[in-house]
Amino acid sequence: MITRPFGASGYPVAVIGQGTSGMGERRSARKDEVAALRLGLDLGLTHIDTAEMYGNGEAEEIVGEAIAGRRAEVFVTTKVLPSHASYDGTLRACEASLRRLKTNYLDLYLIHWWSERHPVADTMRAMETLVGRGLVRFLGVSNFDVAQLKAAQAALTGEPLVCNQVLYHLGARGIEGELLPYCEREGFAVVGYTPLARGGYARGVVAQIAKKYGRTPRQVVLNFLTRRPALFTIPKASRPEHLRENAAALEFTLSAEDVARIDRAFPPPRRRRSTRPRPGAAARSRPPSSRARA
Ligand SMILES: NC(=O)c1ccc[n+]([C@@H]2O[C@H](COP(=O)([O-])OP(=O)(O)OC[C@H]3O[C@@H](n4cnc5c(N)ncnc54)[C@H](OP(=O)(O)O)[C@@H]3O)[C@@H](O)[C@H]2O)c1
Repeated sequence: MITRPFGASGYPVAVIGQGTSGMGERRSARKDEVAALRLGLDLGLTHIDTAEMYGNGEAEEIVGEAIAGRRAEVFVTTKVLPSHASYDGTLRACEASLRRLKTNYLDLYLIHWWSERHPVADTMRAMETLVGRGLVRFLGVSNFDVAQLKAAQAALTGEPLVCNQVLYHLGARGIEGELLPYCEREGFAVVGYTPLARGGYARGVVAQIAKKYGRTPRQVVLNFLTRRPALFTIPKASRPEHLRENAAALEFTLSAEDVARIDRAFPPPRRRRSTRPRPGAAARSRPPSSRARA
């Protein structure tokens, strides 16, 4: 798996990682989910993205099992819920995540989306405290638009913001108008979520291009979505064949002509669009129980 510098942190991170949304929701699937994450690590998908929200905290526990004994190979990201993102709440949420993940540090800690309840300055101050205590290496945000990024940056006193995690797939290219250029200028890694739009794009131009390279449509999609140096992606896959397919998605280079064909078939919107989360994105999982109390 190719790594590239993770924004201004310069830290090498796998361009394709592993999402965990939906994991931990069925007890019967737990063993397979741990095995999937471990296979992903074997294949070089070493950026694991999770959140206290996923599976009511259970996804973090599954990640904890998967990374046991191999912590140093993994770049672990988790996220605090906006409802927990007061100064003290962020500290408590981080400690609870660390317990579930069975690790003593996070590689990257994000606020899951903008909090209407807690000032971003309090969250950022807590995140800097966590870095100072050695519990977090890098800090970032998710689903922030440019104005929100500026507010978060202004609140930080020493640590840089290194990442914005946002929705990015062929049918959702809104970040390309204003947000991605801003992130590139500021040295943020842009981690795209839901890259496969839950399994679409198997027909038409993408399928034709895939055939030409002897690849699959989803490999073309992942390749396209990471075509710029700031871009990373975190598809979620539980099935071994999906993990293998995703891990091999950067073994070829799309020609400029094929990039242009995809651009024509899935044009980015002309209108500037916010990346603020759609309500459905947050509503897919229940908030964590008292174990993640903050
Ligand atoms: N920050 C945020 O607000 C936010 C929001 C949403 C998601 N995320 C993060 O981003 C991650 C990815 O997004 P997502 O889970 O919404 O969607 P996704 O990764 O685009 O799609 C996941 C689905 O695609 C399937 N899949 C994976 N690889 C495949 C392949 N090669 N061929 C066919 N199907 C494949 C998976 O199936 P199997 O599982 O059966 O293999 C799963 O059903 C999440 O898991 C989460 O960590 C963050």
